Amino acid sequence: MHETLSDWLALREPADVAARSAALTRAVVEKLPRDRPLRAVDLGTGTGSNVRYLSRDLPAEQEWLLVDRDPALLAEAARSLRPLRSTVVETREMNLGVLEPDIFSGRDLVTASALLDLVSETWLRALADECRAASTTALFALTYNGRSHCSPEEPEDEMIRELMNRHQRQNDKGFGRAAGPDAVDIAERCFAAAGYHVRREPSDWVLTPDARELQRQLVEGWASAAREIAQEQTSVIDDWLRRRLEHVDANRSRITVGHEDLAAWLRS
Ligand SMILES: C[S@@+](CC[C@H](N)C(=O)[O-])C[C@H]1O[C@@H](n2cnc3c(N)ncnc32)[C@H](O)[C@@H]1O
Repeated sequence: MHETLSDWLALREPADVAARSAALTRAVVEKLPRDRPLRAVDLGTGTGSNVRYLSRDLPAEQEWLLVDRDPALLAEAARSLRPLRSTVVETREMNLGVLEPDIFSGRDLVTASALLDLVSETWLRALADECRAASTTALFALTYNGRSHCSPEEPEDEMIRELMNRHQRQNDKGFGRAAGPDAVDIAERCFAAAGYHVRREPSDWVLTPDARELQRQLVEGWASAAREIAQEQTSVIDDWLRRRLEHVDANRSRITVGHEDLAAWLRS
């Protein structure tokens, strides 16, 4: 397992960058104002990966509010973004479980990456309503959609995937019971109901054999989630993990993890 959340976020950042929909990002950028500094908020910012990705394509002058409950991650994000020219970064340590209108007020863009599968349907409805009230554009990248494929295949792959998806739906990180793999469908409904035009694009991780450490930590994470859901299957899960790690160590493992990006904007 990864040492810290920061280590895990650093390990996954190149895969995230490769996976994200550049077309959807461009579509969002076209909706944003260019005649004044852009005001954006990144929810669950971690070490700022989403801001690093977006800041290259956004209008030159940017004012970011980065929100997370973890002060160490926020400090790392602020440090890493300091060299970006014309970008003002403010951080706010807060539990996003209850959304406060002032983080949305006056923003042009509300964004997040790798967050929506952690949140509940009720929270997504509140998010869409807050975005609507502030008339913001929205972009949510890299939401897990419940699909994955491993090659070479092992007989238990499907069982582990189902256990892992059940585990995702039992998560509660302070947002209520997580929508998990259903999050993008639910977010689409919530934003459409709030009056938004919604567009979705795939952003799957396609991990090649050289992404050994990421693959290793990924399958170890799946095994640990599966064990929590089905303790009675521990020996089956451990045996599956041993074979999957052998594939990784032998440079023959390919893993696809299904993600989607979702954007929402108000028609002018
Ligand atoms: C999977 S990480 C994604 C981080 C970052 N957006 C990225 O793509 O690298 C989820 C982030 O949400 C934050 N988080 C989780 N629950 C939260 C909560 N209730 N309030 C605020 N932040 C939370 C975590 O601290 C973590 O930084």
